Amino acid sequence: MENGKTILIVGGTSGIGRATAGLAAARGYNVVIAGRSEQKAQEVIDENALKGYPIQFISTDIANGKQVQDLVSQVVHMHGRLDYACNSAALDEGLGIRLADVEEEDYDHQMGVNLKGIWLCMKYQIRQMLQQGSGSIVNISSINGLGGAEGASIYSAAKSGILALTKSAAQEYATEGIRVNALCAGAFRTPMLEGVFTKTNAADPSAVEEMYKSVIPMHRIGTPSEAAEAILWLLSEQASYVTGHSMIVDGGFSSSMR
Ligand SMILES: NC(=O)c1ccc[n+]([C@@H]2O[C@H](COP(=O)([O-])OP(=O)(O)OC[C@H]3O[C@@H](n4cnc5c(N)ncnc54)[C@H](OP(=O)(O)O)[C@@H]3O)[C@@H](O)[C@H]2O)c1
Repeated sequence: MENGKTILIVGGTSGIGRATAGLAAARGYNVVIAGRSEQKAQEVIDENALKGYPIQFISTDIANGKQVQDLVSQVVHMHGRLDYACNSAALDEGLGIRLADVEEEDYDHQMGVNLKGIWLCMKYQIRQMLQQGSGSIVNISSINGLGGAEGASIYSAAKSGILALTKSAAQEYATEGIRVNALCAGAFRTPMLEGVFTKTNAADPSAVEEMYKSVIPMHRIGTPSEAAEAILWLLSEQASYVTGHSMIVDGGFSSSMR
C-alpha cells in the first residue's frame, strides 16, 4: 500500500504525466506535479479535486537548474521527503526535420529540455533521496530511444541519453536504497501524439493514426492510464528488486526487432 508516500511528477500537467498524477492521487499518494503551464495544471487540480483527490502544482521549467533545485526543495518543504519521482516532461519540437537541417540553437533547445532537463531532475531528486536513504525514480524515454527514427534524430538522441542516465544512476546508487528505471513508451493518446498526427498530415490526421495502428500488433493506440500503471509499478515497493531497467510498453510494436 503506497498511501501517504510523496510522488513528484515532472510533466504532470499533460498526457502520460497527468494520468500518472490522477492514478497516484486515487491510490492515496501525496501528489505534486510540475510543468510550466499554470492553466494546464489547474485543469489537473480541478479534475482530481472533483473526485476528492488533492494535487499540488509547482511551476517549473526543467531547462533551468535553479528552478529544478527549488522544485525539489519545495516538495520536501511541503511533505518532508520525496519517495518517488517520475520525469515525464519533454517537448517534441523539430520532428520531421532531417539531421543536417537542424539548426544549432534548436538542437540546444531540444536537448536542454529533453536530456539536460531530465538529468537536472535526477540530480536534485537523487541528492534528496540520498539524505533519506531511499527513493525510486522512473524516467520516461521512448521506443525511439532504442534505435533511431527518420525525422526525429535529436529527439531520439535525447531519449537514448535518458536510458544511459537511467542505467548509470541505477548502478551508482544501487547500494544506497535508490532505484532508477525507465519506461520506453510506444504510441499513447496524448496532446503530444495528437500533435504529431496533425503535424504529419494537417489535412487528415486520422490517416496518420490509422498508419500507426496498422504497424502496432495490438492495432490500437495506448491510453495514458496504461502507461501510468506501468510507471507506478516500477516506482513502487512491488518492484523492489528492479533497477536499471528499460520497460517497453508499446502494444508489441518493437517486439519484432528485439
Ligand atoms: N505520447 C506518446 O505517444 C509518447 C511516445 C513515446 C514517448 N513519450 C514520452 O512520454 C513523455 C510524456 O509525453 P506526453 O505524450 O504525455 O506529452 P505531453 O502531453 O505533451 O506532455 C508533456 C509534458 O512535458 C511538460 N514540459 C515540456 N517542456 C517542459 C519544460 N521545459 N519544463 C517543465 N515541463 C515541461 C509539459 O508541461 P507544460 O506544458 O506545463 O510545461 C507536459 O506536462 C515524454 O517524455 C514523451 O517524450 C510519449
